[in-house]
Amino acid sequence: MNEQHRGRLTRDGIRIHESADFSGMHKAGRLAAEILDRLADHVFVGQTTGELDRIIEAHVSEAGAKSATIGYKGYQHASCISVNHVVCHGIPGDKIRKWKNDIHRRDDDALKDGDILNIDVTVIVDGWYGDTSRMYVAGKLKPYAEKLIQVTHDSLFKGIEAVKPGNTFGDIGHAIQTFVEGHRMNVVRDFCGHGLGRVFHSPPNVLHYGRPGTGPVLEEGMFFTIEPMVNLGRPETKVLSDDWTAVTRDKSLSAQFEHSIGVTADGFEIFTLSPAGRFHPTWRESA
Ligand code: MF3
Ligand code: CO
Ligand code: CO
Repeated sequence: MNEQHRGRLTRDGIRIHESADFSGMHKAGRLAAEILDRLADHVFVGQTTGELDRIIEAHVSEAGAKSATIGYKGYQHASCISVNHVVCHGIPGDKIRKWKNDIHRRDDDALKDGDILNIDVTVIVDGWYGDTSRMYVAGKLKPYAEKLIQVTHDSLFKGIEAVKPGNTFGDIGHAIQTFVEGHRMNVVRDFCGHGLGRVFHSPPNVLHYGRPGTGPVLEEGMFFTIEPMVNLGRPETKVLSDDWTAVTRDKSLSAQFEHSIGVTADGFEIFTLSPAGRFHPTWRESA
């Protein structure tokens, strides 16, 4: 048995990792989270998403790690950066428009006052994948955007709190969905979390909606992401002609947070916790 295929698979094809594997995930997750911590000071009005991506790529190589996204299905960047109504998989770029253009087009890669953005980074450290994303703000945060970010953040933690052996993936989705809909916002159905470990995307699909008691049962040693995308408007999305950028169909604002998580004997371990306590954009450094 080679190293990539240690442990066993459940009948749903979900890998059960060994206790020694948690430290590999912890290292990879920590680096991804540290990189996101360091980005906070680089997000400002006028900054381009392309420059943010170059900063990320430099941090990844400085750490002696590898970007999981460069070369993944033809993707060429170290991050996805999704601004305002971009739901996920926004492509970093350097285009700057000198005149005011249609706010609903993403042909301007420079951040404007009040923009909210998700930065999603996945690194590979010693073969283990660390995948995390969080929200940032350029300039002054608008109240309705702040509400969206807070609800999205808290929905991720509602999902995480449902992680323990014996619960099901449907319990996680249900916890997220009921919380989000309780705030009259909507969970995106078209994208989901995923198993990870020594691979980027593996079973199961971690849905951010669902019914209690449905889906595979959680077992100690499962590693996966939870990464709810929440829209202020309708949940429907569409992918732009670049084949990556997913946007809300109704152009409403969208937010996302992502953690990589392992199931422990009595609950969960979050591999991608922010060492500086900066996971939420309005939190300040804890130290
Ligand atoms: N990090 C993303 C996720 O959460 C995947 C990005 S794949 C890319 O699963 F190719 F778009 F970068
Ligand atoms: Co992910
Ligand atoms: Co991600």
